[in-house]
Amino acid sequence: MKSIGRCRAHTNIALIKYWGKRNEELFLPMNSSLSLTLDAFYTDTEVTLDSTLDSDVFFLDNVKQGDKETAKITNFLNLFRNRANIETKACIKSYNHVPTAAGLASSASAFSALAGATNQATGLNLDLKTLSTLARQGSGSATRSIYGGFVEWFMGESDLSESSFAIPVDDATWDIGMIVIAVNTGRKKLSSRVGMKQTIDTSPFYSSWVETATKDIEKIKKAISEKDFITLGEITESNGMKMHATMLGAFPPISYWEPDSVKAIQKVKEIRDMGLPCYVTMDAGPNVKVLCKRSDMIEIENKLLEDFTRDQIIPSSVGEGIKLLSQDEWNY
Ligand code: ADP
Ligand code: DP6
Ligand code: CO
Repeated sequence: MKSIGRCRAHTNIALIKYWGKRNEELFLPMNSSLSLTLDAFYTDTEVTLDSTLDSDVFFLDNVKQGDKETAKITNFLNLFRNRANIETKACIKSYNHVPTAAGLASSASAFSALAGATNQATGLNLDLKTLSTLARQGSGSATRSIYGGFVEWFMGESDLSESSFAIPVDDATWDIGMIVIAVNTGRKKLSSRVGMKQTIDTSPFYSSWVETATKDIEKIKKAISEKDFITLGEITESNGMKMHATMLGAFPPISYWEPDSVKAIQKVKEIRDMGLPCYVTMDAGPNVKVLCKRSDMIEIENKLLEDFTRDQIIPSSVGEGIKLLSQDEWNY
């Protein structure tokens, strides 16, 4: 017996960051976070439940993955198998249209797409809120990729797994865009998971980080509701820098930055000083993301081209939430 599910999920970039878990097993975060889903980067995943298989098999970009990567997928699928009361093993084929493990949020689109595809394959028919809580348990940032536009992920209450999920805040169709400056799309040496744990355990700035992120969430939601782009950008840039400052305070210090990250940040400031509003944010990797008005994107790209090559500059409009893919839409 075979049962197939196929799903596409887009990546999201946090404007107010998640950087630490209060419960590692359940992926419950230290603070709520807020993101923008991106159209340009996504993951397509197919899950085939197959009663003839003895164990799960996982292919990423056509490459069969080893035990460690497959075990992560197995643990995640078990959340669904337990609910469906089945033990059937699966073949998982996933394709990243985003560099893997480069700080461009591949884990967000990955586990969101896997949640959507597994939901379909198991026939569980879970709603988006439940899928969001399940995606969270694959990778925290995946909680938010279930939805498009601006998305808030609630930190939830104590150890209650079902209290921590994402909701769409605003569809971001009011002249919002993001440009990725690809500084280095190779794999990072320190995963987000390990980096955030080390930060909680050793950075003396950690409690201030949580306090400030909690305040930033309220400020940014107000800016979004008022469609106030300048305030949105200012809070975004400030929050991202505070996260990186918190990491620098860890022992040993953590930095995902490269020389070209600094070059990109300075260039964005220069462009802003010329009168084009645009703001940077960075995640667990050296790549720089520029939050800007969609209508200014071409002009900003042209300025960035003075210092970066065409293939380093990837413009994106706002992405949608997860969607199931039919066999005809599965072009692999
Ligand atoms: P990123 O910045 O790309 O999110 P992370 O360190 O958070 O980096 O996560 C990268 C990890 O996510 C990979 O090492 C892999 O375990 C997992 N991952 C990425 N893409 C996929 C995928 N399509 N399917 C399953 N797991 C994936
Ligand atoms: C800096 O969601 O990748 O991108 O939950 O351990 O899988 P795990 O980590 P992940 O961390 C993302 C960190 C970030 C900020 C963010 O996306 O909010
Ligand atoms: Co990630």
